[in-house]
Amino acid sequence: MQATELAKINQEYGKAPLQVRDTGQYRAEYVKSFVEKWDELIDWDRRAETEGDFFIRQLHRQGATRVLDVATGTGFHSVRLLEAGFEVTSADGNANMLARAFDNARSRGRILRTIHADWRWLTRHVHEKYDAIICLGNSFTHLFSERDRRRALAEFYAVLRHDGVLILDQRNYDNILDNGFTTKHTYYYCGRDIRAEPEHVDEGLARFRYTFPDGSTFHLNMFPLRRAYTTKLARQVGFQGIETYGDFKETFREEEPDFFVHVAQKRFIAEEDNDAEGAVKDANGGE
Ligand SMILES: C[S@@+](CC[C@H](N)C(=O)[O-])C[C@H]1O[C@@H](n2cnc3c(N)ncnc32)[C@H](O)[C@@H]1O
Repeated sequence: MQATELAKINQEYGKAPLQVRDTGQYRAEYVKSFVEKWDELIDWDRRAETEGDFFIRQLHRQGATRVLDVATGTGFHSVRLLEAGFEVTSADGNANMLARAFDNARSRGRILRTIHADWRWLTRHVHEKYDAIICLGNSFTHLFSERDRRRALAEFYAVLRHDGVLILDQRNYDNILDNGFTTKHTYYYCGRDIRAEPEHVDEGLARFRYTFPDGSTFHLNMFPLRRAYTTKLARQVGFQGIETYGDFKETFREEEPDFFVHVAQKRFIAEEDNDAEGAVKDANGGE
């Protein structure tokens, strides 16, 4: 683990925070003080209640046993899946997050198998194959260039078995970009008396502010992925049969959900109807 990352106390965005649009920034954003607050933000019990067994059911449906959690964060999904009997490896590019996840798991009687790895060069550190990869909690949004997104998806693809599945989620940025921010405050960030809201949004940046009851504030600079753009990229690196859920439901109105979950297959599907997805105009700059 990198000493510099672990030693950082404050988030640093310099004089022009809106200009910080860099994939590597997540390493400096999840400073120890923010990581210590993360569980207050997501509230494990309420989050477990609102998600139910959605991911467990998806993984069972895929026949998955070995799962790689590439965005472990403080360990919420890794621990839940271990408790549900899956064989889980927990990866993250941020050392503070991984350390916290390890402690969280240990306090629940579990030992996490951790790998400190950035998605862009995941295969340097991950040498085994997995039935499933989960990239959850609106994590993929941290990648700021299309090259990095393609690269990360290609690395995910590479560590999956031939019939593996990628489960990746994101905020409903289309709604934020097109209609402004609203939230049901029901999913993901379930902590009471905590505000998670955008301070600035344009097609290249969603800067969110997180305010805690003790008055402390933190920020995250993220790339506002449009839904059709994410699935298009996933198809382009080889994923097929992509299904998208809105707030864990199969049917939804486009502007309704706060979050989308994409379930993408590596398994070869001979004839696929990609027309509906492909026809959605990509306003996020992809070809
Ligand atoms: C928003 S947090 C989500 C954490 C957790 N999955 C949850 O739902 O609570 C995003 C996580 O992704 C990790 N991350 C972001 N970009 C990454 C990258 N390029 N490589 C590896 N990890 C990355 C961060 O370190 C952080 O732990």
